[in-house]
Amino acid sequence: MTISLQPVRGTRDFYPAELRLRNWLFDIWRESSRQFGFEEYDACVLEHEELYVRKAGEEITEQLYSFEDKGGRRIALRPEMTPTLARLILQRKNALTFPLKWFTVAQCFRYERMTRGRRREHYQWNADVIGQSRLVAEVEVLSVLILSLEKMGLSPSRVQVHLNDRRILGSVLAHLGVPAEQHVGVMVVMDKRDKLAPEALERQLAEQGLGKGQIDGLNELLRMDTLEQVQGRLGKTAALQELRQLLDMLDAVGYGGYALFDITVVRGLSYYTGTVFEIRDTGVNLRAICGGGRYDSLLSALGGESIPAIGFGFGDVVILELLAELDLLPVLSSQIDYAVIPFSEAQVPQALTLSQALRKAGLRADSEFSFRKLKRALQRADEIGARKAVLLMPDELARGEVVLRDMARREERRMAMSEFLANPG
Ligand code: HAM
Repeated sequence: MTISLQPVRGTRDFYPAELRLRNWLFDIWRESSRQFGFEEYDACVLEHEELYVRKAGEEITEQLYSFEDKGGRRIALRPEMTPTLARLILQRKNALTFPLKWFTVAQCFRYERMTRGRRREHYQWNADVIGQSRLVAEVEVLSVLILSLEKMGLSPSRVQVHLNDRRILGSVLAHLGVPAEQHVGVMVVMDKRDKLAPEALERQLAEQGLGKGQIDGLNELLRMDTLEQVQGRLGKTAALQELRQLLDMLDAVGYGGYALFDITVVRGLSYYTGTVFEIRDTGVNLRAICGGGRYDSLLSALGGESIPAIGFGFGDVVILELLAELDLLPVLSSQIDYAVIPFSEAQVPQALTLSQALRKAGLRADSEFSFRKLKRALQRADEIGARKAVLLMPDELARGEVVLRDMARREERRMAMSEFLANPG
């Protein structure tokens, strides 16, 4: 039997170069979160399967990786973090002081059909505000998102936050005579608009109880592209007014250029109740970079009291594809300060003590003992991203000297070992 050397289909291996990039992205996510005062949390990737049992026909519940453990418990690999967050909040709700601002970077698993931008494992940055019903919570989560996009070198000409409110969609459906209890199911289907052929979408809407006239009416209403147009058709509603206010507030914090109203944004998860949003690129046309919204009743659905909440999930897959397309990926080296290169076995003791002295001085030093030709040793020093090399050559060492090489400039100079150690920076 031959064992496959490939990673499990849909999952990724992270070789050092790829992990450097992933860490770069995670650092931006973490630093942005901290700048806004979000605190980091985590939980195990194994969760109770029942947390994901929802009856709205969402894809995510059909894509679960789940199994029975040896104790007979139904376990799932988490497909998203929000139910776990809700569990954590409910578990300690009497001890916690609201509002909470929490973030996490978590690996999630979904048995997806493999298409561009979709894998069976991905990492997701989530930042959520729990216990704040006012629009300031929306402004905070959208602002932290946009800050992170700017740190990646993106601007409004490249990415846009498409905003909508499920209550507006609710008004649209009510206007078409769709009973309230069918709205969630219809919205879950509406989210598949881009993925399904028009006939398949119509069939699924019909299965949710919509008649031909209602489907045509829905298609027509979803072509409206300003809040004013929607107001003209549906009248003034609280949701329309709040969305206008939110756009104004984003403008006030300097992020107005990123935000636009988009009535077609629905989101595929059933728990959203108000504001919903997606970040999309403007030119490459990849899948949504990030998605989120307000979910004021998820906590009550899990048996607790209703606590207002809003947040997003921002995956690592689509954004790295976009940055690659736009040539915005950083060039990252491993940032070693010194490669210490002994000429032969005889210099090993000095290489070890010198490396140790450099580390004690707070520097990163790598020593390597294969005693190959200098050219090869220097090539390796380059590959590991060393700024400088210290060459320990027999003649120089006998005179108490080392040879220092600046890797970028390809310049070498001799220096007394004592002088080097006194000031190795
Ligand atoms: P979601 O829209 O299912 O939302 O996922 C959020 C983001 O995760 C997507 O926009 C995408 O970047 C990434 N993503 C999801 N599935 C995959 C996949 N199979 N492969 C690659 N990337 C993927 C949620 O998960 C919500 N829990 C987000 C949330 C947090 N809402 C409120 N708080």
